[in-house]
Amino acid sequence: MTWVIRRAERRDLPEILRIEETQFPEPWTRGMLIDEMSNVATRRYTVAVEEGVVLGYLGVMFVLDELHVNTLGTAPEHQGRGVATALLTEAFADAAERRMVRATLEVAVSNARAQRLYHRFGFAPVGVRRRYYERTGEDALVLWADLPGAPAGGPTLAP
Ligand SMILES: CC(C)(COP(=O)(O)OP(=O)(O)OC[C@H]1O[C@@H](n2cnc3c(N)ncnc32)[C@H](O)[C@@H]1OP(=O)(O)O)[C@@H](O)C(=O)NCCC(=O)NCCS
Repeated sequence: MTWVIRRAERRDLPEILRIEETQFPEPWTRGMLIDEMSNVATRRYTVAVEEGVVLGYLGVMFVLDELHVNTLGTAPEHQGRGVATALLTEAFADAAERRMVRATLEVAVSNARAQRLYHRFGFAPVGVRRRYYERTGEDALVLWADLPGAPAGGPTLAP
């Protein structure tokens, strides 16, 4: 591994947008990403960079004691090198320092590769959001993972 993980900056936006636009049916816009990255109180955006090239990025949001994965993408030519694994590992270590107790995310039901990745981080499905993705009409699985320090017992679902 020759890359470093650091906080995303404005200068990374063109490369992040290229990954969004090539990897997602409903890519985020430049404006959405600027808003997200500016909100440093509740958002944390990181990039994996190798020799000045952004290989992948991760955006998470903090909601009370919960980490929510907003977006994660690796440039197509750098997939399968462990970039997303490294980004998630770094974010989970940061979340532990912040005493976050759980992590959640939505992932398309057809996105088997991302689901395998999340499964390795202890994520498991706890629900389905029907037609979550407007453009494709696809359902999303809601995944949940306990982080170190979480009380035993997993999610408590409302009756
Ligand atoms: C899902 C996604 C983020 C994974 O990114 P990635 O950087 O390729 O992920 P990793 O390399 O950490 O792991 C992916 C695979 O590469 C393998 N891998 C990891 N390091 C490796 C290495 N050094 N050499 C070869 N393979 C490796 C992993 O075992 C894993 O295998 P699997 O797909 O068979 O389970 C990427 O495919 C992507 O951007 N997809 C489109 C966007 C998306 O779906 N985002 C998630 C939305 S919720």
